[in-house]
Amino acid sequence: MESQASKQRPRQHKTLIAPSLLSANFLCLKEEIAKVEAAGADWLHLDVMDGHFVPNISYGPMIVGFVRQATDLYLDAHLMVEYPENLLDAFVRAGADNITVHAEAEGVSANTLKTIRNLGVDAGISINPETPLDALDPYWDLVDLILVMSVHPGFGGQSFIEDSLEKVNRISERIQRDKLPILIEIDGGIGIDNAARVRSAGADVLVAGSSIFRAADSSAALSEIRNAADSSLTSPKK
Ligand code: DX5
Ligand code: ZN
Repeated sequence: MESQASKQRPRQHKTLIAPSLLSANFLCLKEEIAKVEAAGADWLHLDVMDGHFVPNISYGPMIVGFVRQATDLYLDAHLMVEYPENLLDAFVRAGADNITVHAEAEGVSANTLKTIRNLGVDAGISINPETPLDALDPYWDLVDLILVMSVHPGFGGQSFIEDSLEKVNRISERIQRDKLPILIEIDGGIGIDNAARVRSAGADVLVAGSSIFRAADSSAALSEIRNAADSSLTSPKK
């Protein structure tokens, strides 16, 4: 079965907005999901943290399963965990459409990405702000998505790290040069102020946690981020 990211190949031009559930109010998760879905979210970004790879713990497959019952949105699981291989099957059974693992995590290898695809979902690789691009070398032919962390992973609400733009640029150049069917996702500190710049650098998927869920008007915030990102495609590159 072909998954959503695969269907979007080759590189499509709609900006995909992926609200990160980490900043939602978990006491009313169903309403929070409905809110961003009604606001036009394209994907739902699910941050999984194990307390080892990052100094925080969030949630696991059980919550992803409940989220699956609440929405038909594409579920983008971002695993900030060591040895993710042990969990892949559980996240697929819970309903994830994509599983992204970290190049820096213990136990991650080309085999991990092959396993994700063999389970029938899209595969992503992520790199932290301090990780050089050559960490991606084993993965270019094995992934549907590259996630560039623009904050240090572990917590929502941090400030965007400007160096991430250059990384996105360079990844985008390679994808275009080699015509690779890979989406670029950027995650951390994304909001109205930098949406145009990250989109213009080449990001296809913009993850936004606090700037959407903590906004006074989440729907307006999502639209503003989308409009800013889309405007960068029509206006000259700054
Ligand atoms: C951080 C997570 C992010 C986080 C983004 O480790 O990977 O997805 O939720 O939150 P904001 O958009 O608030 O930086
Ligand atoms: Zn994330």
